[in-house]
Amino acid sequence: MIDSESGTPYLYERYWLQHPEAEFRLLPSDNIGYLDFPGPVLPRLEAAIIRLHAQVGNAITEGRRIVVGVGSAEVLMASMWVQAGAAMKSSTSNGPVQVYSQPPYYSAYPEVATALGSRDFTWTNMSSNDLSSAQQDVVEFACSPNNPDGALQNQTIAGSRVIHDHAYYWPHYTPIMHPVDYGPQDIAVFTLSKLTGHASSRIGWAVVGDPALADGMQQYVNWHGNIPLESQARAATLLEHVIGSQGGIFSYGRVEMQRRWTLLSDLAAGQQRFTFQSRQAAFDHWSGRTEMATPPYLWIRCNQERDADCAMTLQQAGITPRDGQKFGASAQYARLSLLMRQMDFDKMALKLERLMMG
Ligand SMILES: Cc1ncc(COP(=O)(O)O)c(C=O)c1O
Repeated sequence: MIDSESGTPYLYERYWLQHPEAEFRLLPSDNIGYLDFPGPVLPRLEAAIIRLHAQVGNAITEGRRIVVGVGSAEVLMASMWVQAGAAMKSSTSNGPVQVYSQPPYYSAYPEVATALGSRDFTWTNMSSNDLSSAQQDVVEFACSPNNPDGALQNQTIAGSRVIHDHAYYWPHYTPIMHPVDYGPQDIAVFTLSKLTGHASSRIGWAVVGDPALADGMQQYVNWHGNIPLESQARAATLLEHVIGSQGGIFSYGRVEMQRRWTLLSDLAAGQQRFTFQSRQAAFDHWSGRTEMATPPYLWIRCNQERDADCAMTLQQAGITPRDGQKFGASAQYARLSLLMRQMDFDKMALKLERLMMG
């Protein structure tokens, strides 16, 4: 069985094996006490985040605050909490704030919206049209490029408070068309997990224009125990390496992702049983060339009656996918992660090929 369910980014393991110089070391005497650490860490991490965004050209950080959290999972929760609070403050309706994302959406958003059990906000499956005409207060997750289908998403409901999830707005997944530059009502979220692959270090951050929203998010992170200094220091070391190598990991990731997508596109051609998402080319300001998008996930539509349960069809072919229904789509769809090790990807491609010929 090939596990293509989770988005664990083993793809980057090989790059780091080739770059042991980005090692991060700790002595047993380091980091004793709540705040002590050899040198200030959070300012160093924030400085690296700001420099990297400027080097890549994917986000404007001037005049904004950086709020770091335990993975973007925590940053997304903190964002939702402050955005719902802000929506309620200016609200004229007295119902809970509706948390919405246009399907297909990242399967964690409904979980994030319900995990806190809040009476102030609730996940909704209403359509954006119905929400607009019902004049509801809405917090909207817009993931761009989108997990699962790679589409470039933006706000869909006028007046909603938006959390832009840019976990995949890096050159190994997409041409960098412009830096994101939102107004003070919007929050942009990024994560180390899909940038360098260090998902278990649990570092994510938000670029926040409104100081009141940033203060609220910081409070949320502090209440939940703050961020381990070891993780902050390791993330700073890794990001400084990415900056110093002029984005070596992006070049590595892009070449490998292009290889994977070329293989997948060849498989898709000349058969009707499965449809993969379409991809666009665009001018990439990071490389100064036109580049094709190489999304981290394959979003499959099973077109035939016999594959009505698309996830089951893939499972029977030896590939574990994530069911399309988890993304608010139908069972006709399934998602495969493309972020596994090279050997596992090649095995998966072989299994897909056999399935497509059947
Ligand atoms: C779109 C998106 N946002 C956020 C996350 C969460 O990442 P992390 O909590 O590791 O930062 C993921 C992980 O798969 C994701 O796909």
